[in-house]
Amino acid sequence: MEKDSHFKFLNLIKNSIFSYFAPILHINVKIYINMKSKQGNSIKDISAKSKQINLFEAFAGVGSQHMALKNISHSMNWNINVVGIVEWFIDAIIAYEAIHNPVAFLPPPRKRKLEIRPETFKVNVNLSADSKKPLSIQSQKKYFENSETAFWLNRSKELSNNLFDITEVKAQDLPKNIDIFTYSFPCQDLSGQGLGKGMEKNANTRSGLLWEIDRIISGAKKTFSQSEMPKYLLLENVKSMINKNHYLEYKKWLDRLDKLGYESKQYVLNSKDFGMAQARERVFVLSVLKTHKDKVDFKFRDPKKTLGMVPIKGILEKGIPFDKKFNQYRLTEPSFRNDNVRKYKLENYTNFSSENMVFDINYNGSTLTASGALSRLKLFYGKDKIRTMTPKEAFRYMGFTDESFDKVVQTNLIKPNKQLYLAGNSIVVPILEEIFRTLVF
Ligand SMILES: C[S@@+](CC[C@H](N)C(=O)[O-])C[C@H]1O[C@@H](n2cnc3c(N)ncnc32)[C@H](O)[C@@H]1O
Repeated sequence: MEKDSHFKFLNLIKNSIFSYFAPILHINVKIYINMKSKQGNSIKDISAKSKQINLFEAFAGVGSQHMALKNISHSMNWNINVVGIVEWFIDAIIAYEAIHNPVAFLPPPRKRKLEIRPETFKVNVNLSADSKKPLSIQSQKKYFENSETAFWLNRSKELSNNLFDITEVKAQDLPKNIDIFTYSFPCQDLSGQGLGKGMEKNANTRSGLLWEIDRIISGAKKTFSQSEMPKYLLLENVKSMINKNHYLEYKKWLDRLDKLGYESKQYVLNSKDFGMAQARERVFVLSVLKTHKDKVDFKFRDPKKTLGMVPIKGILEKGIPFDKKFNQYRLTEPSFRNDNVRKYKLENYTNFSSENMVFDINYNGSTLTASGALSRLKLFYGKDKIRTMTPKEAFRYMGFTDESFDKVVQTNLIKPNKQLYLAGNSIVVPILEEIFRTLVF
């Protein structure tokens, strides 16, 4: 055992030194990658007893799925192996790579332009600058010419096997023997704040991208043997996906999963019950290959008993100044929601109801959204003590470590408003941990 850690330690040092000097010496990124994978194999050989879990993340975002699995991998004796991701949003790709495939000792921003000489990103794929629509060829060029962005895009292709735009993924691109396939597809057409266009097949809505998963998995089923099919599938989306407006489509999806050979179970879970400061209710659908279903009982430990309640103040940074501009507005009497959120409203601040809301830090806080008023949560410490949640706090609010957030910031490519967007778009990590803990392979 001691020998193992010694070996890992030496590898870590070797890898860190190399990744620092590789850009300076203009060594091709690929060489570094090859070296990494060799190192990966040797670590795999050492921990021969741990079970390799092949993860595929469609709509990967910043990789909350990957993060949750890594967090529990030690206690589950799993070795997490990402066999592919699908993500087209440039900021999410950079953040994903920075978090999960970080460059040790990134040079200070001033020096980076000179030191990082990546290959140009040459792949002809659709990328998006806003997560919603593809960039034009002209605009893509602009991104590729920014060498730092190209550096991360290359890493994503090489290290995470990113297939980029889901509509361009072919069934034959899907690796065999995936253990966990996650798909938290866009919610904009389902959520209360959106236009409610729904997730119908062929309706050309963003939430309708769900049916791309059907296309890919049905296609794989034609060539894969039963034992090569993804073992578990995990869907995550907003709770309104199962309300009466969208229920018909949702039922169609469940029927489709059944036809594809999966048994499914739906959970509605609130992160405040999982030791989190945030009250965020989401639907999860866990599906297991019917041939494997006797191995799972779909039950998990009662999180309320194990994880307890954490108020907003439990995740706040110290020394952040209050915002005086809020002091000129009177506050309404507080109202108390049954999800343990206590909020006030700033009178006459704006015409938008949720923009006026201010959340008491002694209780749970509202759901963080990717955009709109609730992506800038206002925190109430006491009279004349109000400020907005920082991006670092937003990452904590979603269950990410400060280390992950710092890596995103260190890229120097993602502005604070985009950091908030990425956090609000993601999934609360400890909920995923609890779901993944139930899986048996
Ligand atoms: C709800 S978010 C998922 C976030 C993710 N679970 C995480 O951990 O951060 C949906 C993601 O789908 C991505 N997406 C939307 N359209 C896509 C497309 N055509 N191809 C690939 N990804 C897409 C968005 O950029 C966004 O990151």
